[in-house]
Amino acid sequence: MESFSVRELRTTDTEALLVFETRNREWFESHIDARDPAFYSLQGVADHIAGYLSDLAIGAWHPFVIVDCRQAIVGRANLKNIDLASGSAEVGYRIDQRACGQGLATLALRHLIEQAQVRWGLTQLVAFAYKENLGSRKVLDRCGFQLEQPSCNKSTGNERRFVLPL
Ligand SMILES: CC(C)(COP(=O)(O)OP(=O)(O)OC[C@H]1O[C@@H](n2cnc3c(N)ncnc32)[C@H](O)[C@@H]1OP(=O)(O)O)[C@@H](O)C(=O)NCCC(=O)NCCS
Repeated sequence: MESFSVRELRTTDTEALLVFETRNREWFESHIDARDPAFYSLQGVADHIAGYLSDLAIGAWHPFVIVDCRQAIVGRANLKNIDLASGSAEVGYRIDQRACGQGLATLALRHLIEQAQVRWGLTQLVAFAYKENLGSRKVLDRCGFQLEQPSCNKSTGNERRFVLPL
């Protein structure tokens, strides 16, 4: 079986990340919000990485990539909006369509949970997934996230909020 690993995003990932995001653009846009079209260029991706790494430096974001045994990028996972005061962050992940169904999102989410605890000392993780995104909901469920019931006076559209106390 092929082996995969999760590592931090690097400035040298620009070309590989552009290939990954471009190849999967339509796939991702069918499940999650579309990116600004300006993202899909070497300069766009370089700016995106620089932004994420400066957010890492200030402790607001922790970006990772999932790589295969040839070090090709097959997925991404992020701890987003890290708030050390409230002990909370949001998780996000996306996997190459050709690599889905092999447990990579589960691997990535478990890595985020471990980093949230060990590196950041957080006490809660939050995830948002569209109601019909059954693959993502399965991953969240497997990792212990609970669906939060929307309050009756608050409309959340098709998006659902999931919470994992740590
Ligand atoms: C959702 C996503 C991250 C899942 O990645 P993955 O690597 O395939 O996830 P895993 O293999 O860890 O687990 C997925 C599980 O959901 C199941 N699944 C996938 N699609 C499904 C569907 N339409 N209905 C029911 N189950 C489904 C898989 O069979 C698997 O379960 P199993 O291991 O018991 O067979 C991937 O499809 C993706 O990147 N989608 C586009 C971006 C996205 O939706 N990101 C999440 C935003 S909340």
